[in-house]
Amino acid sequence: MSNIKVQYLGLNLANPVIVSSSGLTGTADKIAACEDAGAGACVIKSLFQEEIDSTVHSLQHSSHPEGADYAAALQTGFDLERYCTIIRNARERTGFPVIGSLNAFRHEWWVERLPQLEAAGAHAIELNLARLPSDADTDEAHIRRWYADAVREAAASVKIPIAVKISPYFTSIPLMVDELHKSGAAAVVLFNRLYQFDINIDDFALRSGPPFSTRADIGQTLRWISLLYGRTRMQLAASGGIHHGDDLIKVLLAGAQAGQLCSTLYKNGLAQIGTVITRLQQYMDQHHFSDISQLRGKVSQQRSSIPEDFERIQYIRSLTGSQD
Ligand SMILES: Cc1cc2nc3c(=O)[nH]c(=O)nc-3n(C[C@H](O)[C@H](O)[C@H](O)COP(=O)(O)O)c2cc1C
Repeated sequence: MSNIKVQYLGLNLANPVIVSSSGLTGTADKIAACEDAGAGACVIKSLFQEEIDSTVHSLQHSSHPEGADYAAALQTGFDLERYCTIIRNARERTGFPVIGSLNAFRHEWWVERLPQLEAAGAHAIELNLARLPSDADTDEAHIRRWYADAVREAAASVKIPIAVKISPYFTSIPLMVDELHKSGAAAVVLFNRLYQFDINIDDFALRSGPPFSTRADIGQTLRWISLLYGRTRMQLAASGGIHHGDDLIKVLLAGAQAGQLCSTLYKNGLAQIGTVITRLQQYMDQHHFSDISQLRGKVSQQRSSIPEDFERIQYIRSLTGSQD
């Protein structure tokens, strides 16, 4: 049997399948179920600053007499305590790496909370960073600085490794990744799936688009993992469009250290983890790979004899009127 153990964020994973931060990892029971299903690690459902702040806001402005007290409790760490309990219980019940996740836009918010997640036993932290610059006054360098400062402050507040999960929407992903590395991140997760935006044409209201990815979404992930592999000292974790074993194999060939699964587990259940791992083992046997490191980056730009193919962004033939 070939070796599929990997190291990610300085942690030993039995295999490269990580269950993504989502409702699938929101309780200690669910996290234990991920380990039982064969996952190499999991990222706990994010603790969202926005959610807590808006709850606090609505409670403070409600007529309920206990609202203000409850709001004060939330602000002083009620939800944080619940999150830390999930980490502690998950650590007690499982033997695989458990990664905490924070989503916040105010730096001081996570700098206060990260040491408590570390003390509760999180093996590492994934920062889910997402900003939507919607005005013309915020320039690109300012946005990049915001990300870099966030990571610098987070990394300085704890000893455990930090991964940063980003969206694909940057002027230059390599430059952003480089700055995240200089700020102290050990890994970058490519990519987060942002809330999908849609419009209801009958009631003229906004509505949510499809929450789940499809296999077609993997292209974006593959492009950037294969371009970045060997060009950054950050570890690369793939997220986005990994549904089947072949998809995991592709992100490893592109250069990922591990692959995160989410939508496919919602659609197919946790048993899909075993199916994906079995396919990886089968593929490695078929191609005579005895160790997973032999796959990693094999189809990256750095190792390609035709590196220019990795930077192709237009369908030249279709632009000139022919597709054959
Ligand atoms: C229902 C749902 C909930 C999610 N919740 C979170 C979350 O709390 N934190 C986070 O960082 N990502 C969250 N994500 C994003 C996933 O972790 C993952 O990055 C994304 O879905 C892309 O992976 P996939 O193509 O395998 O679904 C969520 C995704 C879904 C579908």
